[in-house]
Amino acid sequence: MKQSPFIYGSTVSSNSFTNRVEDSRRLYNNLLQGINTMIISPRRWGKSSLVEKVINDINQKEKNIKTVTIDLFTISYEEEFLEVFASKIIQASSSKWEDWVKSGKELFKQLIPKISIGTDPSNDFSLSFNLNELKKHKNEILNLPESIAKKKRIKFIINLDEFQNLANFPEYNLLEKRMRANWQRHKKVTYCLYGSKKHMMTEIFNNPSKPFYRFGDIFLLKKITTENWVNFIIKSFKDTNKEISKKNAALIPKLMKNHSWYVQQLSHYIWQKTENRVTRNEIDDSLKELIYANTPLYQKDIESVSSTQLNLLKAITNNEKQFTSNKVMQKYKLGTPQNVIKNKKKLINNDVIHVVDGVYELIDPAFELWFLKQFYNKDYF
Ligand SMILES: Nc1ncnc2c1ncn2[C@@H]1O[C@H](COP(=O)(O)OP(=O)(O)O)[C@@H](O)[C@H]1O
Ligand SMILES: [Mg+2]
Repeated sequence: MKQSPFIYGSTVSSNSFTNRVEDSRRLYNNLLQGINTMIISPRRWGKSSLVEKVINDINQKEKNIKTVTIDLFTISYEEEFLEVFASKIIQASSSKWEDWVKSGKELFKQLIPKISIGTDPSNDFSLSFNLNELKKHKNEILNLPESIAKKKRIKFIINLDEFQNLANFPEYNLLEKRMRANWQRHKKVTYCLYGSKKHMMTEIFNNPSKPFYRFGDIFLLKKITTENWVNFIIKSFKDTNKEISKKNAALIPKLMKNHSWYVQQLSHYIWQKTENRVTRNEIDDSLKELIYANTPLYQKDIESVSSTQLNLLKAITNNEKQFTSNKVMQKYKLGTPQNVIKNKKKLINNDVIHVVDGVYELIDPAFELWFLKQFYNKDYF
């Protein structure tokens, strides 16, 4: 059986990666020229994929630059972050694990790392430190990439995914100051810091009173355009000996509001159902299947919002604009104008809604379709 050309759930950087020519060029140039870059967009629009794609290109073309990518999503406390940071940098600095052990022993002045290495060193190498020592000498770890780079005459590009996760650590404020103070002096290391929590990321990087203000280029990643999606979908069907008309292909990004993950997921379902040529039936069924598959998540999301927030979502999805007008507040039971303002802020900070060209909309297009069906009995088409 042929493999589906559509991928969702993991990052895409080669075959299923479409377009983003300008975005790739901008990121590539920034990173090569030593410009720290922060990328912000709602989750599942394509940040990790974009970074992976550009880093693959850099790895192929620039032998003198070592790259490190750490996903902070799974890291839950500061010491773990520092240990992973140190281990990954040492690993990236050489292709030989013998060098890692040597570096682990030679590079530190104040800290004494415990090196652990398994039977398959490339997957099983880590450093750990005495926690009290680590607390006292964080700078040594934060400066590690620059010291290795100088010593080995190499450069580093360090990518920290879901960076805003660090802000959940209890002593983040201090760590933040330290990171900034050390990293801004690094001449041979470039940082790419990206994350999905728009509110937190903007607070970290765009607030003049915060240490990371003006750390580098802030890149607000946009959605992939309809034209690019349509070309990509038509070509992917064609390459796998199936066919979709331009009109039907255009329906997919339209339904999913160009949201990267959902366009791929819906395309995948349609591709699976199609023998030769896509008909409207396959699209209808696939959309139902997609929403059905995601329903448990949407139900959970709904349970976590208060009743006035839910009412505000009803007003937003029903295309209301004047939320604090008496008429709208009464019709949807939104409470007082203060309630409306507070709830808007909450929903924005929790990444449920955002403002596009002055208009509030739900961030998740399939959740919106589910919501409209649930509360207004509106059909998907
Ligand atoms: N350039 C791209 N071309 C095609 N699909 C993409 C692209 N970028 C992302 N996607 C789709 O979106 C999904 C989420 O992408 P990801 O990079 O993990 O987003 P983020 O890091 O912003 O959460 C991927 O699994 C893939 O299906
Ligand atoms: Mg990501």
